[in-house]
Order: sequence, then structure tokens, then C-alpha cells
Amino acid sequence: MTTTHDLVHVSTQSTMPRHPLEPLTPEEIAKAVAIVRAERNLSEQFRFPAVVLKEPPKSVMLNYQSGDSVEREAFLILLDNATGATYEAIASLTRNTVTSWQHIPGVQPNIMPDELSECEAAVKANPAFQAAIAKRNLSLDSVVVDPWAIGHFGLPGEDGIRLSRCLCYVRTTPNSNFYSRPIDGLVPVVDLNQMQVLRIEDMGVVPVPPEPGEYAAEFIPMRTDIKPLEITQPQGPSFEVDGHHVRWQKWQFRIGFTPREGLVLHTVGYEDQGKLRPILYRASLAEMVVPYGDPRPQHFRKNAFDVGEHGVGVLTNSLRYGCDCLGEIRYFDAAMTDSRGEVAIIENAICMHEEDFGVLWKHTDWRLESVEVRRSRRLVVSFFCTVDNYEYGFFWYFYQDGTIQYEVKLTGILLCGVLADTPKYGTLVAPEVNALNHQHFFSLRLDFDIDGGNNSVYEVNTEAEPMGVDNPYGNAFSATSTLFKTELEAQRIIDPLAGRYWKVVNPSVQNRLGQPVAYKIIPGDNILPFAHPDSPILKRAGFMTKHLWVTPYAEDERFSAGDYPNQHPGDEGLPKWTQANRPIENTDVVVWYTFGHHHIPRPEDYPVMPTAYSGFVLKPVGFFDANPALDVPPSVPKQGICH
Ligand code: NI
Repeated sequence: MTTTHDLVHVSTQSTMPRHPLEPLTPEEIAKAVAIVRAERNLSEQFRFPAVVLKEPPKSVMLNYQSGDSVEREAFLILLDNATGATYEAIASLTRNTVTSWQHIPGVQPNIMPDELSECEAAVKANPAFQAAIAKRNLSLDSVVVDPWAIGHFGLPGEDGIRLSRCLCYVRTTPNSNFYSRPIDGLVPVVDLNQMQVLRIEDMGVVPVPPEPGEYAAEFIPMRTDIKPLEITQPQGPSFEVDGHHVRWQKWQFRIGFTPREGLVLHTVGYEDQGKLRPILYRASLAEMVVPYGDPRPQHFRKNAFDVGEHGVGVLTNSLRYGCDCLGEIRYFDAAMTDSRGEVAIIENAICMHEEDFGVLWKHTDWRLESVEVRRSRRLVVSFFCTVDNYEYGFFWYFYQDGTIQYEVKLTGILLCGVLADTPKYGTLVAPEVNALNHQHFFSLRLDFDIDGGNNSVYEVNTEAEPMGVDNPYGNAFSATSTLFKTELEAQRIIDPLAGRYWKVVNPSVQNRLGQPVAYKIIPGDNILPFAHPDSPILKRAGFMTKHLWVTPYAEDERFSAGDYPNQHPGDEGLPKWTQANRPIENTDVVVWYTFGHHHIPRPEDYPVMPTAYSGFVLKPVGFFDANPALDVPPSVPKQGICH
């Protein structure tokens, strides 16, 4: 199992990828597009929603030895604007040919960034839209048009057309914030294949809120009492990077990146007693959705699938040293294409660095007057994306005690409407500005390989025992583990009052105490959706209804709401696959953890939100024989000694 983690030493100048899981290089992306273009004789009307590495089969990778020849393949999604047809292609970069070409009927690929700017231009050039702006006594130059996915509500005239529904705003000055000033009830609907405005939904003139809601530095008088805080590592960082392989203390993993999922972790393992022990084969953000709670005509469609409808990878920010990231930073670029298939590189897309994280462990033996204390250090791998008004930071943290943490940092600007009356479905955050109630649901696909491929999943609940002969003083409580044998048994929700957690176990490998080795999933911030079970959004994002899902590994089951959620009626992804109720005991399992962040806006979230944090933790439970961080050396004291 450990062979997939081997370091492969090849010159960094080589343009040939050194490991089969290395992301496609810019040259490979250009080659894949050229191969498909030439062989399929594509017209200029084709767009390229995705050009990514087709990862080799897991069965191949688990037996991979450094130097093995593995075919390099690219997976492409293509959209023909002329016909509206979607295709999937596989191009072999080893054999320079298209090995698979398939029409995918009845789907809409993700909306691409180029489409957003083309759509805005088309709306602003439309005479009916210009008339609607003039009717509101607004200047067209000050208007901003924000295209949104239209969703699926079973309404007539929307199937089979690639649609966007746009929200409109006004800037007070050319550099002003605009999300604070919505033009409520004015909604252009655009055919993105033809790039033509189909209709302008005008629900009547509503005054635009008066305040500009500025947050940029040029508008804000700054506090002046902050002194510099420098983080220095004079000997450099403690990690080693080879291509996209990372080694940090006892951790090893590979970094991947896709336009849809953003950062992907491959082959995460921890060195223990001389061997590299696998934990996760692949970990990724498999979907996310933001359902809003306002039922009125201009608002009910607001349900953004930021992974499947847009792609958090393609919307990734280029990070700036000293601003986004502090310390000894290693950046990774992300290579992809624009919608027309031209190579596009996001520089400094992924940030990796070390952070001090307070006390790792400590004990004072007061009789000996001895203190043992160790400082905790964590490795951070992260990226930030901007999806219209919102910012999401996606952070993986690795700790010295074997803990892995996933945290989403939510910031950016609230989605607001104009306050017409009492803000039942939102919060008054500024004069006439109604910030809408909403939730953010994140679905993580965690392909565990705890010490090997065959794992089982248990639920652990703590229960109080009744008072009685065996519990005369009523203090007894115990934890009970229940094995999930099939997929339907493993569809579960959190229960904080039972101390509930889920445990991924390798039943064939024991620690020194004879316990099967395991990692547990510890829920953090979480909630269920408030949308009705029969609502269109729950049909489309059924994964939200359970916090835990477990499936047997299947190569083509990657996205929780299905491959093409854009404009899709639903019943795809996890709810569909798990109807088969496949066995999941002692097999190669994939664990899907959903967490929801509930957002009833506050005035303090305006005009830009202080970061909110949401996520979960993976912690070893019997994976090690004892505390694996005993060997972290004491810090060098500033004065005297630390131990
Ligand atoms: Ni929010």
C-alpha cells in the first residue's frame, strides 16, 4: 500500500509529469485541446467547460511503482454553442488520440467565467434592459449585471435552453461596492448559447438603497495603532516539495487541483514506526450548495451549486504574499483553460505554510517541579475562491498528533434585496437593505484507505445507563459502536447530545492493544436544511439531508449531486446511487460528510463579512499505539528552559 507514496526524483525542468497523479501541465492541457479539436474537427462554437487529468484507475495506482509507465489521459467536457449539445471526451496524451467521445444528452455543463462577462455585456446592450434602467433613472454605466444559475423548478420554456438569470446592482462611484445597492425585481434572463436576452422580468420599480456600503481601503479611515507582526523561519520551512508531492514531518500527500473541486488531496499518509501508513486515497469538495430562504418571485431561485454549477477551482484567487498568507509560503499555480480552450494559469492558487498552533501537550509534575510542554505546529494547505458576492477559503490542516482538520472560511458580501416591508426572510443590515436568510452546505468526498483498502464504518453513541443494581449512584455512561453493513444504514445525521461520531476502521489491522486501527470523523458546526422535503432544491441537492453517507468505492461516483447539476431536475448523485443499498462492510469505502453553516445575517456582516468558520476534524482513534507526538522536541526557550 505504501508504494503509491514513494518520492520520485526527476529534474524539475522536465515537462513530462513525474507521477501519474501530477495535475496536467499547461503543455499537456494545450495538447489535449489540440488533439480533440483536430480529430473531431471542432468548430469555433465549441467551449471547454473542463480539461483535467483523467486520474488513472485506483487499482493501477495502488500497485504503482516509481518508474512504471502509466498512460497519461485528459478528460474533457465540451459544449457546442451552435447546437447546445454537451460531449465528454478522453484524449490520450501518450498515444496522441481521442480514445472516447460521447454525447451526453439533456445536461448543461457548469457556467464558465467567460460566459459571465459575455452575458453581462449582452444584457447591457439590450434595448429592453436599457429602457428598464432608464425607467429607474439610473445610468447604464453604473449598472452591474451578475449572471446566476437559473436552477430547475419545472417551469415551462426552460428545459433544453442554456439559461442564466441575472441580478442587477448599481455602483455609486466607478470604484464603489455594488452588492449593497441591488436593483430589486429587475431580472434579465439570457440564453447563454446564443448569448441573447430572452426576457426581462420587471417586477416594478423599487428605489435602490441609498448607502454605498463601502469597504475598500480608499473609502475607510484606518486605525493607526497596529505594530508589525513578523513571522520568520530563518532556516526555511520544514516541508519538502517534489512536483506536487509534499512531505512535512511524518505526513506525506500529493496536491491536486481541478477547475470544479479546487484543491484535491491524494494519497495522504503518516510515517509511523518506519513505514508510511495510508489514511486517505483522495479527499475533495464534491459539491456545495447555498439555499436561500426567501420565497418571493425575485428570490426563490437563489440556490447556488458553487462546485457543480460554477466550479470553485476556476474561480480561485491568485494569492498575494503578506496579505492572504503570512510566513514562509510555498505557492502552487493551477493550470486550466478558459472557455475557448486556451490555457489559463492561476498563479499562486494554492498556499502552503506552517503555523504555530499554541500548546500541543503539557504536564507539570509539581512534586518534581518539572514542566514538559510542546508547541503545536500545523501545516496549512489552502485556496480561496470568489463566487459572485461570496468568498470561500478552503483549508486543510495537518497536525503533529495525526489530526487532519478541514475548515471553510466564509467571507465576502451578503446577498441582499431591498427592504419592502418587515424583513421576515432576512435581516435589516443597512437602511433599506435586506440580507437574505440562507445556509451553506458542503459535501466532502473522503476516500479512506486506513492502512489499506478494506475498511468498515461504525457509528459511536454515548448513552447514560439507567440507575439500578449495577449503577446505584446513576453516574454510568458508555459508548456503543454500531457497524454499518449497507449504504442505507449509513445515512445518518449528527447527534451532539449523544457525543456521536463516526469511525472508519480497518478490521484487519490492530494496534498494540489489539484494537482495530481507525480514524474518526468529529462533526463541527452543522445543521439540516430548512427547505421542504418536496422542494425542488432538496430534489437537486438530496445530499444535504444526511450528514453521513457511505458508499462502496466506484470510480464514476465523484459528485454528490451528480455530474451535471446545472439546470438539472435532480435525483442524481448520492440519493440515487445508494438506493441499490450496496454492502459497505470491510470493503473499499468512500465516506461523504455533509456540513451546513446556518446564516441568519447580522448587521455586523455588512458591508463585508468578518470570516465565519465551519468544518470538521478527522482524528486517529487507536490508529497509533499511543500519543504519536511524544517525539516533538521541546522548543528553544527565550529564557531559561521550556521543560
Ligand atoms: Ni452566508
